[in-house]
Amino acid sequence: QIKCKAANTNTKYCEEVSEVLDINWDDLGFGLTATDYMYVTKCSEHGMFKKGELQRFGNIEMNPSAGVLNYGQGLFEGLKAYKKEDGSILLFRPQENALRMRQGAERMCMPAPTVEHFVDAIKLTVMANKRWVPPKGKGSLYIRPLLMGSGSVLGLAPAPEYTFLIYVSPVGNYFKGLNLAPIHLIVENEFHRAAPGGTGGVKTIGNYASVLKAQSAAKAKGYSDVLYLDSVKNKYLEEVSSCNIFIVKNKVISTPSIHGTILPGITRKSIIDVARKEGYEVEERQICVDELLEADEVFCTGTAVVLSPVGSITYLGQKKEYVNTKDGGIAQKLYSALTSLQMGLTNDNMGWTM
Ligand code: COI
Repeated sequence: QIKCKAANTNTKYCEEVSEVLDINWDDLGFGLTATDYMYVTKCSEHGMFKKGELQRFGNIEMNPSAGVLNYGQGLFEGLKAYKKEDGSILLFRPQENALRMRQGAERMCMPAPTVEHFVDAIKLTVMANKRWVPPKGKGSLYIRPLLMGSGSVLGLAPAPEYTFLIYVSPVGNYFKGLNLAPIHLIVENEFHRAAPGGTGGVKTIGNYASVLKAQSAAKAKGYSDVLYLDSVKNKYLEEVSSCNIFIVKNKVISTPSIHGTILPGITRKSIIDVARKEGYEVEERQICVDELLEADEVFCTGTAVVLSPVGSITYLGQKKEYVNTKDGGIAQKLYSALTSLQMGLTNDNMGWTM
Protein backbone atom coordinates (compact mmCIF):
# COMPACT_ATOMS: atom_id res chain seq x y z
CA GLN A 1 0.00 0.00 0.00
CA ILE A 2 1.53 3.32 -1.02
CA LYS A 3 2.17 5.69 1.85
CA CYS A 4 1.21 9.29 1.20
CA LYS A 5 4.72 10.62 1.06
CA ALA A 6 7.26 8.48 -0.81
CA ALA A 7 10.27 7.64 1.31
CA ASN A 8 13.67 9.13 0.52
CA THR A 9 12.50 11.90 -1.72
CA ASN A 10 13.38 15.51 -1.31
CA THR A 11 10.51 16.61 -3.47
CA LYS A 12 7.87 18.61 -1.70
CA TYR A 13 4.40 17.17 -1.91
CA CYS A 14 2.21 19.07 -4.35
CA GLU A 15 -0.80 21.30 -3.84
CA GLU A 16 -4.21 19.60 -4.05
CA VAL A 17 -5.88 20.42 -7.34
CA SER A 18 -9.36 21.73 -6.78
CA GLU A 19 -10.83 21.46 -10.29
CA VAL A 20 -13.79 19.10 -10.48
CA LEU A 21 -13.01 15.60 -11.73
CA ASP A 22 -14.83 15.22 -15.01
CA ILE A 23 -14.70 11.52 -15.74
CA ASN A 24 -17.11 8.66 -16.31
CA TRP A 25 -15.52 5.66 -14.57
CA ASP A 26 -17.85 3.31 -16.44
CA ASP A 27 -16.58 4.44 -19.81
CA LEU A 28 -12.80 4.09 -19.60
CA GLY A 29 -10.95 2.73 -22.60
CA PHE A 30 -7.21 2.77 -23.11
CA GLY A 31 -6.78 6.42 -24.00
CA LEU A 32 -5.10 9.39 -22.38
CA THR A 33 -7.01 11.36 -19.77
CA ALA A 34 -4.96 14.38 -18.74
CA THR A 35 -4.31 14.16 -14.98
CA ASP A 36 -2.95 16.69 -12.47
CA TYR A 37 0.80 16.15 -12.19
CA MET A 38 3.80 14.63 -13.94
CA TYR A 39 7.25 13.96 -12.49
CA VAL A 40 10.32 15.36 -14.25
CA THR A 41 14.05 15.22 -13.67
CA LYS A 42 17.05 15.66 -15.96
CA CYS A 43 20.70 14.71 -15.96
CA SER A 44 23.75 15.00 -18.17
CA GLU A 45 25.22 12.19 -20.27
CA HIS A 46 27.57 10.88 -17.61
CA GLY A 47 25.61 12.19 -14.63
CA MET A 48 23.14 10.73 -12.15
CA PHE A 49 19.48 11.67 -12.02
CA LYS A 50 18.72 13.87 -9.03
CA LYS A 51 15.36 13.71 -7.25
CA GLY A 52 12.93 15.45 -9.56
CA GLU A 53 9.85 17.53 -9.11
CA LEU A 54 6.17 17.33 -9.74
CA GLN A 55 4.89 19.72 -12.40
CA ARG A 56 1.38 20.26 -13.60
CA PHE A 57 0.73 17.77 -16.42
CA GLY A 58 1.21 19.38 -19.82
CA ASN A 59 3.40 19.84 -22.85
CA ILE A 60 7.17 19.73 -22.53
CA GLU A 61 9.67 21.85 -24.39
CA MET A 62 12.44 20.24 -26.37
CA ASN A 63 15.02 21.38 -28.85
CA PRO A 64 14.27 20.11 -32.38
CA SER A 65 17.68 18.43 -32.39
CA ALA A 66 16.97 16.36 -29.23
CA GLY A 67 18.38 12.82 -29.45
CA VAL A 68 14.98 11.24 -28.90
CA LEU A 69 13.37 13.22 -31.73
CA ASN A 70 16.15 12.64 -34.25
CA TYR A 71 17.56 9.22 -33.43
CA GLY A 72 14.91 7.55 -31.28
CA GLN A 73 17.05 7.45 -28.16
CA GLY A 74 14.18 6.72 -25.82
CA LEU A 75 12.63 4.06 -23.61
CA PHE A 76 9.28 3.76 -21.92
CA GLU A 77 7.73 1.60 -19.24
CA GLY A 78 4.18 0.73 -18.30
CA LEU A 79 2.79 -0.29 -14.91
CA LYS A 80 -0.46 0.09 -13.03
CA ALA A 81 -1.88 1.23 -9.70
CA TYR A 82 -5.14 -0.19 -8.37
CA LYS A 83 -7.56 1.12 -5.78
CA LYS A 84 -8.74 -1.24 -3.07
CA GLU A 85 -12.19 -1.23 -1.51
CA ASP A 86 -10.89 0.76 1.48
CA GLY A 87 -9.52 3.46 -0.83
CA SER A 88 -5.85 2.53 -0.43
CA ILE A 89 -3.74 2.25 -3.56
CA LEU A 90 -1.56 -0.68 -4.66
CA LEU A 91 1.34 -0.75 -7.10
CA PHE A 92 2.22 -3.97 -8.91
CA ARG A 93 5.94 -4.86 -9.07
CA PRO A 94 7.39 -1.40 -9.80
CA GLN A 95 10.94 -2.60 -9.05
CA GLU A 96 10.67 -4.90 -12.07
CA ASN A 97 9.96 -1.92 -14.32
CA ALA A 98 12.88 -0.07 -12.78
CA LEU A 99 15.22 -2.96 -13.50
CA ARG A 100 13.94 -3.32 -17.05
CA MET A 101 14.41 0.39 -17.67
CA ARG A 102 17.98 0.13 -16.40
CA GLN A 103 18.70 -2.79 -18.75
CA GLY A 104 17.18 -0.90 -21.67
CA ALA A 105 19.14 2.23 -20.80
CA GLU A 106 22.37 0.26 -20.92
CA ARG A 107 21.49 -0.97 -24.43
CA MET A 108 20.48 2.51 -25.59
CA CYS A 109 23.52 4.31 -24.08
CA MET A 110 21.49 6.31 -21.57
CA PRO A 111 21.89 6.99 -17.85
CA ALA A 112 18.98 5.60 -15.81
CA PRO A 113 17.45 6.29 -12.38
CA THR A 114 18.29 3.83 -9.63
CA VAL A 115 15.62 1.31 -8.66
CA GLU A 116 14.96 3.24 -5.44
CA HIS A 117 14.66 6.56 -7.26
CA PHE A 118 12.36 5.03 -9.89
CA VAL A 119 10.04 3.48 -7.30
CA ASP A 120 9.94 6.62 -5.13
CA ALA A 121 9.16 8.75 -8.16
CA ILE A 122 6.34 6.39 -9.16
CA LYS A 123 4.84 6.56 -5.66
CA LEU A 124 5.08 10.32 -5.61
CA THR A 125 3.43 10.68 -9.01
CA VAL A 126 0.63 8.27 -8.15
CA MET A 127 -0.11 9.97 -4.85
CA ALA A 128 -0.12 13.39 -6.52
CA ASN A 129 -2.76 12.04 -8.92
CA LYS A 130 -4.56 9.75 -6.49
CA ARG A 131 -8.00 11.17 -7.28
CA TRP A 132 -7.53 9.76 -10.82
CA VAL A 133 -7.13 6.13 -9.69
CA PRO A 134 -10.41 4.49 -10.76
CA PRO A 135 -12.64 2.99 -8.05
CA LYS A 136 -12.18 -0.74 -7.43
CA GLY A 137 -13.39 -2.79 -10.40
CA LYS A 138 -13.57 0.17 -12.81
CA GLY A 139 -10.00 0.08 -14.15
CA SER A 140 -6.57 1.19 -13.04
CA LEU A 141 -4.18 4.11 -13.15
CA TYR A 142 -1.73 3.42 -15.98
CA ILE A 143 1.72 4.79 -15.19
CA ARG A 144 3.99 5.67 -18.08
CA PRO A 145 7.65 6.39 -17.20
CA LEU A 146 9.74 7.78 -20.08
CA LEU A 147 13.51 8.01 -20.37
CA MET A 148 14.79 10.04 -23.30
CA GLY A 149 17.75 11.79 -24.82
CA SER A 150 16.50 15.34 -24.50
CA GLY A 151 19.81 17.10 -25.24
CA SER A 152 20.72 18.49 -28.67
CA VAL A 153 22.71 16.27 -30.96
CA LEU A 154 23.11 16.61 -34.72
CA GLY A 155 25.77 14.06 -35.60
CA LEU A 156 24.83 10.52 -34.55
CA ALA A 157 25.90 10.14 -30.91
CA PRO A 158 24.36 9.76 -27.46
CA ALA A 159 22.56 12.94 -26.41
CA PRO A 160 24.34 15.17 -23.88
CA GLU A 161 21.25 15.44 -21.61
CA TYR A 162 18.50 13.02 -20.50
CA THR A 163 15.00 13.43 -19.12
CA PHE A 164 13.19 10.96 -16.87
CA LEU A 165 9.48 11.78 -16.83
CA ILE A 166 6.44 9.98 -15.43
CA TYR A 167 2.85 10.68 -16.36
CA VAL A 168 -0.31 8.74 -15.54
CA SER A 169 -3.78 8.20 -16.93
CA PRO A 170 -6.80 6.26 -15.71
CA VAL A 171 -7.51 3.38 -18.10
CA GLY A 172 -9.97 0.57 -18.73
CA ASN A 173 -9.53 -2.39 -21.06
CA TYR A 174 -6.88 -2.22 -23.78
CA PHE A 175 -8.79 -4.18 -26.38
CA LYS A 176 -12.46 -3.40 -27.04
CA GLY A 177 -15.00 -5.29 -24.96
CA LEU A 178 -15.31 -6.66 -21.47
CA ASN A 179 -12.54 -8.33 -19.47
CA LEU A 180 -11.56 -11.61 -21.14
CA ALA A 181 -13.25 -10.72 -24.44
CA PRO A 182 -11.35 -12.86 -26.98
CA ILE A 183 -9.07 -11.07 -29.44
CA HIS A 184 -8.40 -12.07 -33.03
CA LEU A 185 -4.86 -12.17 -34.37
CA ILE A 186 -3.24 -12.53 -37.76
CA VAL A 187 0.27 -13.93 -38.14
CA GLU A 188 2.40 -11.35 -39.93
CA ASN A 189 4.20 -12.85 -42.87
CA GLU A 190 5.93 -9.86 -44.42
CA PHE A 191 7.27 -7.65 -41.61
CA HIS A 192 9.28 -8.57 -38.54
CA ARG A 193 9.35 -6.86 -35.19
CA ALA A 194 12.96 -7.54 -34.19
CA ALA A 195 16.18 -9.18 -35.30
CA PRO A 196 18.93 -10.99 -33.34
CA GLY A 197 21.38 -8.44 -31.97
CA GLY A 198 18.81 -5.65 -32.31
CA THR A 199 16.72 -3.95 -29.65
CA GLY A 200 13.60 -6.15 -29.61
CA GLY A 201 14.31 -7.20 -26.03
CA VAL A 202 14.23 -3.69 -24.58
CA LYS A 203 11.33 -1.29 -24.36
CA THR A 204 12.65 1.28 -26.78
CA ILE A 205 10.18 3.55 -28.52
CA GLY A 206 11.25 2.51 -32.03
CA ASN A 207 10.00 -1.06 -31.47
CA TYR A 208 6.50 0.34 -31.29
CA ALA A 209 6.61 2.71 -34.27
CA SER A 210 7.85 -0.12 -36.49
CA VAL A 211 4.81 -2.32 -35.85
CA LEU A 212 2.23 0.32 -36.75
CA LYS A 213 2.11 -0.45 -40.46
CA ALA A 214 1.31 -4.15 -40.03
CA GLN A 215 -1.00 -3.42 -37.11
CA SER A 216 -2.98 -0.82 -39.07
CA ALA A 217 -3.37 -3.19 -42.03
CA ALA A 218 -4.55 -5.96 -39.70
CA LYS A 219 -7.03 -3.67 -37.94
CA ALA A 220 -8.42 -2.53 -41.28
CA LYS A 221 -9.22 -6.20 -41.97
CA GLY A 222 -10.99 -6.60 -38.61
CA TYR A 223 -8.20 -8.25 -36.59
CA SER A 224 -7.31 -7.02 -33.11
CA ASP A 225 -3.54 -7.17 -33.65
CA VAL A 226 -0.60 -8.93 -35.31
CA LEU A 227 1.44 -11.91 -34.13
CA TYR A 228 5.09 -11.75 -35.21
CA LEU A 229 7.37 -14.60 -36.22
CA ASP A 230 11.15 -14.68 -35.83
CA SER A 231 13.12 -12.84 -38.50
CA VAL A 232 15.60 -15.65 -39.22
CA LYS A 233 13.42 -18.65 -40.09
CA ASN A 234 10.02 -16.92 -40.19
CA LYS A 235 8.75 -19.93 -38.31
CA TYR A 236 8.80 -19.40 -34.55
CA LEU A 237 6.40 -17.29 -32.48
CA GLU A 238 7.80 -14.03 -31.10
CA GLU A 239 5.18 -11.67 -29.66
CA VAL A 240 2.17 -9.52 -30.50
CA SER A 241 2.78 -5.77 -31.15
CA SER A 242 1.96 -4.84 -27.58
CA CYS A 243 2.08 -8.07 -25.56
CA ASN A 244 3.57 -11.55 -25.08
CA ILE A 245 1.94 -14.79 -26.25
CA PHE A 246 1.22 -18.14 -24.56
CA ILE A 247 -0.23 -21.39 -25.91
CA VAL A 248 -1.82 -24.23 -23.95
CA LYS A 249 -1.83 -27.88 -25.07
CA ASN A 250 -2.98 -30.73 -22.83
CA LYS A 251 -2.79 -28.36 -19.82
CA VAL A 252 0.90 -27.59 -20.49
CA ILE A 253 1.48 -23.86 -20.91
CA SER A 254 4.22 -22.67 -23.27
CA THR A 255 5.58 -19.27 -24.17
CA PRO A 256 8.49 -18.20 -26.40
CA SER A 257 11.74 -18.06 -24.46
CA ILE A 258 13.47 -14.71 -23.95
CA HIS A 259 16.49 -14.51 -26.24
CA GLY A 260 16.92 -10.84 -27.10
CA THR A 261 14.18 -10.30 -29.67
CA ILE A 262 11.21 -10.66 -27.31
CA LEU A 263 10.25 -8.17 -24.62
CA PRO A 264 10.70 -9.68 -21.13
CA GLY A 265 7.17 -8.81 -20.02
CA ILE A 266 6.54 -8.37 -16.31
CA THR A 267 3.03 -9.78 -16.73
CA ARG A 268 4.57 -12.65 -18.73
CA LYS A 269 6.93 -13.42 -15.86
CA SER A 270 4.14 -13.05 -13.28
CA ILE A 271 1.81 -15.38 -15.20
CA ILE A 272 4.56 -18.02 -15.43
CA ASP A 273 5.02 -17.86 -11.65
CA VAL A 274 1.29 -17.82 -10.94
CA ALA A 275 0.68 -20.77 -13.29
CA ARG A 276 3.46 -22.81 -11.67
CA LYS A 277 2.09 -21.97 -8.23
CA GLU A 278 -1.33 -23.23 -9.40
CA GLY A 279 0.34 -26.52 -10.38
CA TYR A 280 0.63 -26.08 -14.15
CA GLU A 281 3.70 -27.09 -16.11
CA VAL A 282 5.11 -24.05 -17.93
CA GLU A 283 7.71 -24.23 -20.69
CA GLU A 284 9.75 -21.33 -22.06
CA ARG A 285 10.94 -22.52 -25.45
CA GLN A 286 10.86 -22.03 -29.22
CA ILE A 287 7.27 -22.48 -30.43
CA CYS A 288 6.73 -23.33 -34.06
CA VAL A 289 3.88 -21.46 -35.75
CA ASP A 290 2.33 -24.84 -36.70
CA GLU A 291 1.70 -25.51 -33.00
CA LEU A 292 -1.00 -22.85 -33.11
CA LEU A 293 -3.16 -25.26 -35.10
CA GLU A 294 -2.93 -27.92 -32.39
CA ALA A 295 -3.24 -25.64 -29.35
CA ASP A 296 -6.25 -25.87 -27.02
CA GLU A 297 -5.95 -22.24 -25.89
CA VAL A 298 -3.90 -19.20 -26.75
CA PHE A 299 -3.65 -16.03 -24.69
CA CYS A 300 -1.65 -12.80 -24.54
CA THR A 301 -0.21 -11.00 -21.54
CA GLY A 302 1.02 -7.47 -20.93
CA THR A 303 0.60 -4.62 -18.50
CA ALA A 304 -1.90 -2.86 -20.74
CA VAL A 305 -3.73 -5.97 -21.98
CA VAL A 306 -3.44 -7.83 -18.61
CA LEU A 307 -4.42 -11.28 -19.95
CA SER A 308 -6.46 -11.54 -23.13
CA PRO A 309 -7.68 -14.87 -24.46
CA VAL A 310 -7.23 -15.32 -28.20
CA GLY A 311 -10.41 -16.31 -30.04
CA SER A 312 -8.79 -16.98 -33.40
CA ILE A 313 -5.51 -16.78 -35.25
CA THR A 314 -5.23 -16.51 -39.02
CA TYR A 315 -2.05 -17.78 -40.67
CA LEU A 316 -1.52 -17.85 -44.43
CA GLY A 317 -5.26 -17.50 -45.01
CA GLN A 318 -6.21 -20.33 -42.62
CA LYS A 319 -8.20 -19.37 -39.53
CA LYS A 320 -7.88 -21.44 -36.37
CA GLU A 321 -10.59 -20.79 -33.77
CA TYR A 322 -10.17 -21.44 -30.07
CA VAL A 323 -13.38 -22.27 -28.30
CA ASN A 324 -12.22 -22.99 -24.78
CA THR A 325 -11.23 -19.43 -24.05
CA LYS A 326 -13.78 -17.81 -21.81
CA ASP A 327 -15.47 -20.15 -19.35
CA GLY A 328 -13.37 -22.68 -17.55
CA GLY A 329 -10.26 -22.14 -19.64
CA ILE A 330 -6.80 -21.96 -18.13
CA ALA A 331 -6.58 -18.36 -19.36
CA GLN A 332 -9.61 -17.46 -17.27
CA LYS A 333 -8.15 -19.14 -14.15
CA LEU A 334 -4.82 -17.37 -14.56
CA TYR A 335 -6.55 -14.05 -15.21
CA SER A 336 -8.46 -14.38 -11.92
CA ALA A 337 -5.34 -15.38 -10.01
CA LEU A 338 -3.29 -12.49 -11.43
CA THR A 339 -5.91 -9.78 -11.04
CA SER A 340 -6.68 -10.91 -7.46
CA LEU A 341 -3.02 -10.38 -6.67
CA GLN A 342 -2.88 -7.02 -8.43
CA MET A 343 -5.97 -5.77 -6.62
CA GLY A 344 -4.87 -7.02 -3.21
CA LEU A 345 -7.61 -9.65 -2.89
CA THR A 346 -5.32 -12.50 -1.83
CA ASN A 347 -3.71 -13.26 1.52
CA ASP A 348 -0.34 -14.03 -0.07
CA ASN A 349 0.70 -11.14 -2.35
CA MET A 350 3.91 -13.01 -3.38
CA GLY A 351 5.76 -9.84 -2.36
CA TRP A 352 4.51 -8.24 -5.56
CA THR A 353 2.35 -5.33 -4.42
CA MET A 354 3.25 -2.28 -2.41
C1 COI B 1 2.15 -2.04 -21.78
O1 COI B 1 1.55 -3.11 -21.80
O2 COI B 1 2.24 -1.36 -20.75
C2 COI B 1 2.83 -1.54 -22.96
O3 COI B 1 3.78 -0.86 -22.80
C3 COI B 1 2.30 -1.80 -24.30
C4 COI B 1 1.86 -0.53 -24.96
C5 COI B 1 1.90 -0.70 -26.43
C6 COI B 1 0.51 -0.09 -24.49
